[in-house]
Amino acid sequence: MQPTRNKPGRSSGKRMLAGLAALLAAFGIHAAKAPPWMDAKLSPDARAERLLAAMSQEEKFALLYSDYAMPGDPKGRPVPKGALISAAYVAPNDRLGIPALQISDAGLGVANQGGARPHSTATALPSSLASAAGFDPALAREAGAMIGAEAFHRGFNVLLAGGVNLLRDPRNGRNFEYAGEDPLLAGSIVGATVDGIQSRHVLATVKHLAANSVETGRHITSMQIGERALRESDLLAFELAIEHGRPGSVMCGYNRVNGEYDCESAALLTTALKQDWRYPGFVMSDWGAVYSAAKAANAGLDQQSAPSFDQQFWFGPPLREALARGEVGQARIDDMARRILRSLFAVGLFDHPAKPSAGPDDVAGHATVAQRVEEAGAVLLRNRGDVLPLSPSLKRIAVIGGHADKGVMAGGGSSTVWPNGGNALPPMPPAKFPGPPVFDPSSPLKAIARLAPQASVQFAEGGDVAAAVALAKSADVAVVFATRWEAESQDAADLALPDGQDALIEAVAAANPRTVVVLETGNPVAMPWLERSAAVLAAWYPGSGGGEAIANLLFGAVNPSGRLPLSWPRSLAELPRPVLRGAGEPESAPGLAQRIDTRLDLDIEGADVGYRWYDRTGRKPLFPFGYGLSYTRYARDGFTVNEAGGKLLARLRVRNTGARAGSEVAQVYVRLPDGSPLRLAGYRKVSLAPGAQAQLEIALEPRLLARYDEASHRWVIGGGTYRFYAADSAALDGAQQVELTLPRRVL
Ligand code: GLC
Repeated sequence: MQPTRNKPGRSSGKRMLAGLAALLAAFGIHAAKAPPWMDAKLSPDARAERLLAAMSQEEKFALLYSDYAMPGDPKGRPVPKGALISAAYVAPNDRLGIPALQISDAGLGVANQGGARPHSTATALPSSLASAAGFDPALAREAGAMIGAEAFHRGFNVLLAGGVNLLRDPRNGRNFEYAGEDPLLAGSIVGATVDGIQSRHVLATVKHLAANSVETGRHITSMQIGERALRESDLLAFELAIEHGRPGSVMCGYNRVNGEYDCESAALLTTALKQDWRYPGFVMSDWGAVYSAAKAANAGLDQQSAPSFDQQFWFGPPLREALARGEVGQARIDDMARRILRSLFAVGLFDHPAKPSAGPDDVAGHATVAQRVEEAGAVLLRNRGDVLPLSPSLKRIAVIGGHADKGVMAGGGSSTVWPNGGNALPPMPPAKFPGPPVFDPSSPLKAIARLAPQASVQFAEGGDVAAAVALAKSADVAVVFATRWEAESQDAADLALPDGQDALIEAVAAANPRTVVVLETGNPVAMPWLERSAAVLAAWYPGSGGGEAIANLLFGAVNPSGRLPLSWPRSLAELPRPVLRGAGEPESAPGLAQRIDTRLDLDIEGADVGYRWYDRTGRKPLFPFGYGLSYTRYARDGFTVNEAGGKLLARLRVRNTGARAGSEVAQVYVRLPDGSPLRLAGYRKVSLAPGAQAQLEIALEPRLLARYDEASHRWVIGGGTYRFYAADSAALDGAQQVELTLPRRVL
């Protein structure tokens, strides 16, 4: 209780408290004086400073690492006493009132990989590709707040969310945890998600700094890329995500950048993150990403996560010895501890301590949030002859494949949520990390049947192609679900759907011209059957409300509004690196280091990731970034771009010229006078009733008009004539164009 101070005009309540305090004092009883760092009126920096001053060296060092908190510790260490079973744990400091850090994965919900934490399920968000495809930061924030609430409710106060690595290669096994290929979209969506999580007083991260662009070779490969190219791509996504979300922590990744391990890179952790971006929080390592004590600490690493995964407990005795030898200064040790404390104060972990609460989550309400993210983020790629939306008066509907009778696929690895309702499928290989594969128990078949009560809705598993074909032949429409399980620690070998699903789709489409394909994948996939299908819906990994969301989209209860957060390739041949040696192998494969490229030349594309690569090479992807169909149509006009007081504002009128309500994503691209490929400079999603219109004002991000200057570490708008496009994809089809001449300006 805060001590009352003598102030004129005190309220009656305060007078009473003062009287009580005086009475107690007469008996020698004094209200315990809260320590100065608990004064919530002070800034997080001031509170951290006061607490640090009260800490012993031992207590400071106790903050500089976390312990693994799951069974199966690589060094056989038991789950620490007091830890919830999860990714990591830092013991509390009761003397000073520092809360324990209960640290859980990840960005798609409160993970419980393999069900290691018994009886603990949670709501699974869809893949963050769906969140990005929604182009809706407000919805992303709401989703973040939901998983933050679930973390808090389970007693977790750190959620290892915020995957923001750019999608450089569509084989990367973790793209389902990230937000696509564009730095503005990824940074704004992930930043909003992080902001939502932290609104529940759960500290979030952004990860994995930086250029963790492949999985199979993540521990081995060095990403070779120039400073400007890195700053204008992967680092810009982090810079924007940190600005939008103010994450308490940043996680450095496993890979090397230009030969330097991420977690030992002063260029990343100090120069870019802490100096140029003035980041006030702390850097935690990934699990098994630390290779030194002094070098890592001096480069900017503040906390070693789960030392059991490293060769040494670097931030234990080796760091103390480095301090004693003067290789690391006391000031750096203090800075490490201070940054951690500052983040804990800033996010509210002291003032709002998370503790497991007995009451249940709002399971239904949270599933609805997940469902809305999927409804907003599934992308309608094809709809020949307006086969969709399906009519509820259909008589016979065939539903085929993808375990659609049971649920919807989720991605594998540390982000896997053990869903409410449990895994819809019995354990499948791989039993161990990054498996077992999980299906969220939200059955598309059941949801479709609910929306077409008069129809005969029959299911065929798809393994028996003849049976599936027979069912399709007899149906008015056939909906085929195709899945591809992707996971952390392994890249896909190629773009192909596995397990003969292409042949199944071909056979079904040959049997029924009204064949709709629903893809549940973690990446874009090859679609050799595309021209023979009637419709294709990219549903990503659909999450805890996925079945209902897919059914609502197929029947038009919800009008599709997702837009691709990535360029959908025709083949690997058009990528910067058609061959990715080792792709398809798990990171644990024996002798892998001899079979993969230990250096990847990211300078092939540099900052021209995704649609910028296509723009530069003059090629066209199968479907462009920003693309997505709707059941209605939109028109754009009145496009202008003006600059006032350093701010760039695009104005645009968008109209719904169709007969259904829907949401359009207005996209503003820019071409610089230096001839570099186009960039997304701003976007806005707007919902419109049939015939309605909206006058949009879209603030453009100036850094997308600028080039990064390596000498000054500044963004520089070079000046000249800039061409802006109001478009509905990076293909710029039917785009409105305006030009604006701007002076040179250093941002
Ligand atoms: C994993 C991941 C990281 C995760 C951490 C804890 O290896 O790379 O994203 O948060 O370890 O599970």
